[in-house]
Amino acid sequence: MKIKKAVIPAAGFGTRFLPITKVVSKELLPIIDRPAIEYVVREAYEAGIKEILLIISPHKKEILNFFKTNEVLENFLIEKNNQEGLRLIREYDHLNVEYVIQHEQLGLGHAVLQAKEFVGNEPFAVLLGDDLFYGKDMPAIGELIEVFEKYDGHILGTMTVRDEETIKYGIADPISNQKGPVYELKGFVEKPKTEDAPSRSAACGRYILKPVIFKYLETQTKGVGGEIQLTDAILNSTKETKLYSYDIKAKRYDIGSKDGYLKAIVEYALRRDDLKDKMNEILKDNL
Ligand code: G1P
Repeated sequence: MKIKKAVIPAAGFGTRFLPITKVVSKELLPIIDRPAIEYVVREAYEAGIKEILLIISPHKKEILNFFKTNEVLENFLIEKNNQEGLRLIREYDHLNVEYVIQHEQLGLGHAVLQAKEFVGNEPFAVLLGDDLFYGKDMPAIGELIEVFEKYDGHILGTMTVRDEETIKYGIADPISNQKGPVYELKGFVEKPKTEDAPSRSAACGRYILKPVIFKYLETQTKGVGGEIQLTDAILNSTKETKLYSYDIKAKRYDIGSKDGYLKAIVEYALRRDDLKDKMNEILKDNL
């Protein structure tokens, strides 16, 4: 079954980026001249997903403005005959970005539950905005879609993390003796301590989920951190569906951390023809 819909949770407070997130949503923090969320929406779009749902909180509606027409700005640019400006702000006109409000921030599982009506009874993609991926040949979520076409089950995008990092991620528990990059899992645990972690294979913000997940999200109780965890509902739903992990090839940037955010800015600049020489100069001057 084709993946036609993507869900992008964007309702968090962004406390790791205070004080800026007091006034600017973390999804709008710029990676040079585009807000972080634009890269995530574009990833879904480039993987052939045309219906996109943002889950936002009541005080983060400004995120929607980025994907809407701004008539005042358009008229100004028309008057000045600024064709390049017009091209840049019209890039999103064809995108169908919808939204739903999550009134209480009860956790990632609760956020995804808000997409139930939008998704209906079909498999869908989930993309978390703290994780950006640069895929040279294919968008990261496109890799997962290809895996889903061959394996009937939820697919978690994963990567290998260091021992001390298991506490920050959902960690996969693969059935033993399999040859990757796709692994069937027997377990999935949210943010385990290193000594309790079943592997070093961590969920990294990209999922293809079957709609059975909603049945489990509806009754999911609070888990780690007092939050309704997507990880727990995914594990519980394995009573009815298989669960696989897949090691994503695309390069990941954890822009929820300050060093990851800086790295993304530097490396995205180094990939741009208009900026790579200048960025190289800046880096050389600071050696
Ligand atoms: C969430 C998920 C976690 C996953 C992580 C990836 O955690 O709950 O399983 O590994 O995203 O970035 P968060 O970072 O929102 O605490």
